[in-house]
Amino acid sequence: MTSLTTKYIEIQGVEQTFKTKKGAFCALKSINLTVAKGEFVALIGHSGCGKSTLLNLIAGLTTPTQGSLICANREIAGPGPERAVVFQNHSLLPWLTCFENVYLAVERVFSATESKAQLKARTDAVLSMVGLTAAAQKRPGEISGGMKQRVGIARALSMEPKVLLLDEPFGALDALTRAKLQDELLGIVHKTQSTVVMVTHDVEEAVLLSDRIVMMTNGPSATIGEILGIDLPRPRNRVELAESTQYLGYRKAVIDFLYTRQAHVEKLSA
Ligand SMILES: Nc1ncnc2c1ncn2[C@@H]1O[C@H](COP(=O)(O)OP(=O)(O)OP(=O)(O)O)[C@@H](O)[C@H]1O
Ligand SMILES: [Mg+2]
Repeated sequence: MTSLTTKYIEIQGVEQTFKTKKGAFCALKSINLTVAKGEFVALIGHSGCGKSTLLNLIAGLTTPTQGSLICANREIAGPGPERAVVFQNHSLLPWLTCFENVYLAVERVFSATESKAQLKARTDAVLSMVGLTAAAQKRPGEISGGMKQRVGIARALSMEPKVLLLDEPFGALDALTRAKLQDELLGIVHKTQSTVVMVTHDVEEAVLLSDRIVMMTNGPSATIGEILGIDLPRPRNRVELAESTQYLGYRKAVIDFLYTRQAHVEKLSA
């Protein structure tokens, strides 16, 4: 593992309460987390525990009820091109083609310094990377859920962001595409040295990709239950890891947390 010492994202004493018809609902409480530059952090926890809520706060799409969030020594006061988000529900513009959805992001970040031909080349390259060249001229309504998710991933990667915020980006994909894109993501992150915060439900995915796995307790008032450092050398090979006792140990630690110590999620939220 590389030495990760520089604080990049700092989350201090964050609480998020929502106003609902039944009164105030405390989704997150006492969240403290520091992410180093170039670090890959996975957020894992049961459905409804507040993973998307936390990611939205880092994205600057919402503001916390209490506490502060800092990125690169500046208070996170809103969204910015240095923090690209891949949303859980892909959120593409339905009247634009796949190409146009990505081009819009590329244009926003690079149009001041690059020609139209360069912007187009960037868009083509990133669409090709996620295997969508043939679908470039289709609109979101004409492609599958997994393909929509890939457009969202392409859009985020195209911005070459310092921070990538991914909300279950591979959730809708079949196992083979998922594995291919996980490997692509590792390659890109290695090349760009991006800092990544990724929400996932998938234990194997979390262990394969992360430097640390942040495990959240069940809500209401969810918080960070435990943080597991994943000290596996990189580059990581999924086939070799499948037999590594160290890998299996990490996997078991996360499964224990989720299904033994944070079990009965339905009963709690019923
Ligand atoms: N705008 C909102 N108003 C009221 N309650 C909300 C709002 N957003 C989220 N919540 C509640 O906060 C809790 C956390 O929601 P969140 O979407 O962050 O969960 P999650 O961990 O991302 O779940 P999943 O894995 O299913 O995506 C849930 O109980 C949810 O109902
Ligand atoms: Mg979510």
